[in-house]
Amino acid sequence: MSLVRIQSIMGNELSKRVFLSRPPEPPYEYLLNDPTDSIFIGTTKLFGVPFTWTYATLTNPHLAVVGITGAGKSFFVKTFLIRASYVWNTNAIIIDWAGEYKAWVRQSGGTVISLSKGDYINIMDLSGMKPIDRVKQIMNSLDILTDVGEYAEQRRLTSEAIEQAYVNAGFSLSQVPEPGSEAPTLKEVTALLDEKLQDGSYEYPAELENAIYRLRQFTREGEDYFAKKSTIDIGKLSSSGLVALDLSTLPDEKFRALAAMFILQTLKERMRTEGWSGTKGLKAIVVLDEAWKVASDDRSDAITIVREGRKYQFGLIVASQNPTDVNEAIFSNVGTTVMLRIRFEKFMNYLQGSLNFSNYIRSEIGKFGVGQAAFDMSFHSAVQFPDVFLLERVVGEEPLDVYTINASDILTPGELADQTIQKEYYLERIDLNSKFIQAGIGSEMIALLFADLEKAGKTTSIQGLASIMLKRGITKDTIVEFLRGMKIVDNVITRILSAAG
Ligand SMILES: Nc1ncnc2c1ncn2[C@@H]1O[C@H](COP(=O)(O)OP(=O)(O)OP(=O)(O)O)[C@@H](O)[C@H]1O
Ligand SMILES: [Mg+2]
Repeated sequence: MSLVRIQSIMGNELSKRVFLSRPPEPPYEYLLNDPTDSIFIGTTKLFGVPFTWTYATLTNPHLAVVGITGAGKSFFVKTFLIRASYVWNTNAIIIDWAGEYKAWVRQSGGTVISLSKGDYINIMDLSGMKPIDRVKQIMNSLDILTDVGEYAEQRRLTSEAIEQAYVNAGFSLSQVPEPGSEAPTLKEVTALLDEKLQDGSYEYPAELENAIYRLRQFTREGEDYFAKKSTIDIGKLSSSGLVALDLSTLPDEKFRALAAMFILQTLKERMRTEGWSGTKGLKAIVVLDEAWKVASDDRSDAITIVREGRKYQFGLIVASQNPTDVNEAIFSNVGTTVMLRIRFEKFMNYLQGSLNFSNYIRSEIGKFGVGQAAFDMSFHSAVQFPDVFLLERVVGEEPLDVYTINASDILTPGELADQTIQKEYYLERIDLNSKFIQAGIGSEMIALLFADLEKAGKTTSIQGLASIMLKRGITKDTIVEFLRGMKIVDNVITRILSAAG
């Protein structure tokens, strides 16, 4: 028997050991880029290198951002977008599923489009596209959102009626429309199908009825968000600075997905027709945050943007709590994956399986606090170092969100004079948030408490805060726990509780 035995091990087994034999961070020349041509994100955890992101050395400009709720996904996205706009004048279109971005976008001088609240999209708008191509896209969206794909005849009837509506409005199906010509709406399409049904010549009226019924859900008075004349020029979205398309005002997921798919289709066309710009940096970034239906479907244009975006300097950011909700074609092709705190083992297994990081990195990700992150980057050239590294924290661009809690009027003169007793607390939201969490308060309740504090102008007395908590139904025991977490002594806590009522 020889002394040395050659063992064959799997590639991912090997990568788990890499920490022992290689430096755990990419060399600084990969992390530190020309500041006029890259985005600062934060400093690395082990060697404290300022990390600036550029896609010049990466396979593409797209990012996937994953992490549990509250981990800091949206915060990272905001920081990234603001800096991209400083450095490269990058335009951003945020498909804002839950309305999380609108306040920030307004604050940053961007545009918020709230669908159904006075803003409408006509999904038959062409924005320079040939009608025949738009018909395919509309049918593609209906395939994803409805069961029309299962009924060949109904699908054919619908598609034909859409074509007919364009022809009736004076368009030629395979020609680029004259600028300014007004597209028909889905209402014209249902009217055409209705007419056909009325004249009685079609031999399968049930098929027609079903086709009409399906389209009606998008044209009914009050739900016709996509069947009215557009109030916005979608074609211009990719060159309008910072834009949030607020979908939270739409009544359900189906409408949100339809809007998101329509926007992606239009942006994809725009990307293709504008072509290679040859300028520095990124021209536009589309953000899909928690838009799982749109990010997961194989037929989604998010995938086309990931495939072709690089050559058009067009980036996609997909953020999700659940990495398995992001289509594999997106997930395995993005140039950068940002991993914030992950809790579920099955998500961690998925990430480790596809990105091949060490168990050391895995255990760090499980322990992350808010804003701490691991980055995986796919470099152009084959590299001799592990491409996943840790960041101390995403260093943000948001103004600090500070809450002031005043304790002075609950304290006795003696206590007020005592230098060791704190009279006023200035807490960043994230710190106050973790104090609530430590007291065992759930995230939905925390959101309510913050909303109450927001109404109070982010300033309150300590007994005022206790009273807010009581009114929300939090038990006295939990409040005591919370106040102890603020390092308040028990006899003061007793006074606070009795003052709170
Ligand atoms: N790097 C950071 N530095 C300071 N504060 C941060 C950082 N990241 C996040 N926060 C704060 O933590 C809170 C939660 O962050 P954020 O809204 O980005 O979480 P999320 O991952 O998008 O959660 P959700 O999935 O619920 O949307 C916010 O108040 C945000 O301002
Ligand atoms: Mg978020």
